[in-house]
Amino acid sequence: MVSLKFCLPDTTTSDYLRLMIIALVNSKGGVGKSTIAGNLAGWIQKQGRSVILADCDMQKSSSEWLREAAPEIELYRLENSDEILDELPSLRAQADFIICDGPGSQTEVSRALLMWADLAVIPCKASMFEARALDKNTAFVRQAQAIRNGAPNAIAVLSMVGRDYRLTKDMRAAAQALKLDLAETSVSLRQAYADAPGQGTFVWNMGYSAKEATREIEQLFAEIVPDAISDNVVSFDRKKTTAAKANS
Ligand SMILES: Nc1ncnc2c1ncn2[C@@H]1O[C@H](COP(=O)(O)OP(=O)(O)OP(=O)(O)O)[C@@H](O)[C@H]1O
Ligand SMILES: [Mg+2]
Repeated sequence: MVSLKFCLPDTTTSDYLRLMIIALVNSKGGVGKSTIAGNLAGWIQKQGRSVILADCDMQKSSSEWLREAAPEIELYRLENSDEILDELPSLRAQADFIICDGPGSQTEVSRALLMWADLAVIPCKASMFEARALDKNTAFVRQAQAIRNGAPNAIAVLSMVGRDYRLTKDMRAAAQALKLDLAETSVSLRQAYADAPGQGTFVWNMGYSAKEATREIEQLFAEIVPDAISDNVVSFDRKKTTAAKANS
């Protein structure tokens, strides 16, 4: 009998990639979920990892953007909580990373996403309204963590940050009060982020005018998904399963 050891890549200096379902959630609308989800999927693919975008928002903004910007990325639409609970786990077998773009309202959909997610990324605008509503808009994250014994890990990301440093500080205080981790890197308010989907591309393909946006978003992704760029982390060599494919 051939030992399993000889069928697997040498992992003495490497680890296998921890397969990851990453959900972009915040029950507040217009905070940057689709912007971060689309860029994150494109960036992961650029690192040579396989990635699926599961668009869980009926607006379909991120899947329509990626269809143009990165046609090689597989797109799924999971539009209600039953589809998410039934089909999301089967996607795990098909890619290194599954990026799920959550809806702005429909808390039930976000709740379902967090039943399977390994990491919840919570974009938050740095505004006084957002700081006051952070508790309410992230309650479903804490509920999921209570049910799942602490999972998923959750990290808030300040999004559309203008020059008002004081509000950024208020957001940091609000997150700290909720014991919610906050990414060191924030996403600034920049025209390039708003323009990229309309141009069917990503900020790193937009040349000099998007240089700062590119630096910032790549720094954020390296911070929150370090496995995607680690040379010591080996992707699984997987065969496609027959998971039910949603319309793409
Ligand atoms: N960092 C940014 N700088 C400038 N514009 C941004 C930035 N992030 C997002 N936007 C713009 O703000 C709007 C809302 O962003 P986005 O669609 O990503 O939010 P969302 O949370 O997915 O919204 P919804 O809850 O409706 O799905 C879009 O027009 C987007 O282009
Ligand atoms: Mg969206």
